[in-house]
Amino acid sequence: MEIMELIRKRRTIRKFKQEPIDRPILEGLVEAARLAPSGSNLQPVKYKIVDEPQLVHQVFQHVKWAGYIAPAGNPSENEQPVAYIAILADTAIKKSDYELDIGAAAQNIFLTALDLGIGTCWMGAIDREKIKEILHIPEQYILNTVIALGYPDEEPVMEEEQGSIKYYKDQSGTLHVPKRKLQDIII
Ligand SMILES: Cc1cc2nc3c(=O)[nH]c(=O)nc-3n(C[C@H](O)[C@H](O)[C@H](O)COP(=O)(O)O)c2cc1C
Repeated sequence: MEIMELIRKRRTIRKFKQEPIDRPILEGLVEAARLAPSGSNLQPVKYKIVDEPQLVHQVFQHVKWAGYIAPAGNPSENEQPVAYIAILADTAIKKSDYELDIGAAAQNIFLTALDLGIGTCWMGAIDREKIKEILHIPEQYILNTVIALGYPDEEPVMEEEQGSIKYYKDQSGTLHVPKRKLQDIII
């Protein structure tokens, strides 16, 4: 897909088909993240791929979905993610100010995943301590973000903002995501 088409098409997905994602594909997403820009080229961002079903299920207990419409945005039992990529900052490389590196790396994952037909949800509302424990992540790493993954089982739509930026579901259950208009963001 052309880059602008990918960017337009990318939507946060919160309902997933219960089909596994092959490990080499997940590693390919981390490969895309690896090549992202990094301040001073320090590359402090590390990754943990979570695709073992029992671990995936455990992580699910400690993430929160779609705050504006909770609990309507929660995936039901047969719509849950089939994998996660946990994004970590390696404090042995950098102790602070790694968030922008993580943002750039995460966006590479989102767009590459979409190009492969895989849906993603950036999960910031997570219980970091619990997830670190479940995944046996050593102290040296700060768990910043978890990306939920799976083949999409919904088609959210993007629209121009009309007075509210809050995403919402319509009567048929389709998620609508308002984006601020171009003329409102160029100052
Ligand atoms: C930093 C960050 C944290 C987020 N955390 C969550 C989260 O914890 N749970 C969730 O359901 N969505 C989360 N999202 C997804 C946003 O809700 C979503 O990106 C936003 O509604 C716009 O929708 P779009 O991604 O389809 O453009 C997060 C997004 C970002 C960038």
